[in-house]
Amino acid sequence: MIYLDHAASSHPKPDVVMDAMMGFLRNIGANPGRSGHRMSAAAARIVFEARESVARLLGVADSRRVIFTPNATVAVNLALFGLLKQGDHVVTTSVEHNAVARPLARLSAERAVTVTAVQTDGEGLVDPSSIRAGLTDRTRLVVVAHASNVLGTVQPLAEIKDVLGTVPLLVDAAQTAGATPIDVDALGADLLAFTGHKALLGPQGTGGLVLSSKIELSPLVYGGTGSRSESDLQPDFLPDRFESGTSNTPGIAGLGAACSYLLARGIEAQHREAMERFGRFLQKIRRIPDLVLYGREGTDARLALASFNLRGRSPSDVGRMLDERYGIMVRVGLHCAPWAHKRIGTFPSGTIRIAAGASTSDGDLDRAAEALAEIARS
Ligand code: ALA
Repeated sequence: MIYLDHAASSHPKPDVVMDAMMGFLRNIGANPGRSGHRMSAAAARIVFEARESVARLLGVADSRRVIFTPNATVAVNLALFGLLKQGDHVVTTSVEHNAVARPLARLSAERAVTVTAVQTDGEGLVDPSSIRAGLTDRTRLVVVAHASNVLGTVQPLAEIKDVLGTVPLLVDAAQTAGATPIDVDALGADLLAFTGHKALLGPQGTGGLVLSSKIELSPLVYGGTGSRSESDLQPDFLPDRFESGTSNTPGIAGLGAACSYLLARGIEAQHREAMERFGRFLQKIRRIPDLVLYGREGTDARLALASFNLRGRSPSDVGRMLDERYGIMVRVGLHCAPWAHKRIGTFPSGTIRIAAGASTSDGDLDRAAEALAEIARS
């Protein structure tokens, strides 16, 4: 099997991730921050250390500002429903994922929120000046995917932040956390949603929202936190305010181990190597007649993923052939991001997407390029 669907979920996870999860389940298992006995304290310690590791990896000075959620989608929902009020205006881009598009559609219906989706160029890159042009005196938030999950194009967040004035920025870092260096505090991002199971190499069911100290959010979920239990009111301090109910502690143990693993390896070096390898793959597939490649020309401001089509063939047929004949796993279709496909003219059938990851070798990508050349010839 050659697994080239890392943008949907990375696989395999490092051994240290699985060991940390099994270690928690076998040896600790108690509820963190609830019971006061030493096993509960050990569980709380694991959650604390994981929060510290995530904060270090994402450049957040105070780890209490890292709120754990089950995934990036819940984090985006917490940010949008927690912040936006009746009649607010939001600026976003024309290549956002349904994790942003659908909550915004709901908020339009529920709270008369209006949305300006700024058109990106054909490579999926947004011009910060068009974001500035979209701002009005009612704009409460700007939402930008750090990288498109369809095109891999990485947005110029620092330049975008520069044009926003006091309007807060929500970054959807689902595809970039763990893949490219991120420094939330240096960037001044007000909110950043991440998932644990993609390039961070943690397990599914983990993720979070990073909050800046300036942002006031309403919780999405209310309930027990193990703190201030005498009160019917939700605690007002972080992270408890946004973390009601027993956490996914085995998952968080794995996520913490994954972040320590990535911190030791260095994200910058890993990204550079990944892009060199992926650049060689892009050169090979560009030579395949009838292969139409979307997204950026080069390897700068992009991730190691590519969307393409073979003329005259449906993406789902090509995906099936890659799986059945060559044992190559890719994702085809709309990738839960119909806006991006509308932007590049591949809606509704979508594209074939190859997404490399930490375990991908030159050999894997060579085999994929050869398989695509064979399918194109057949
Ligand atoms: N949003 C994920 C993807 O891009 C699942 O495949």
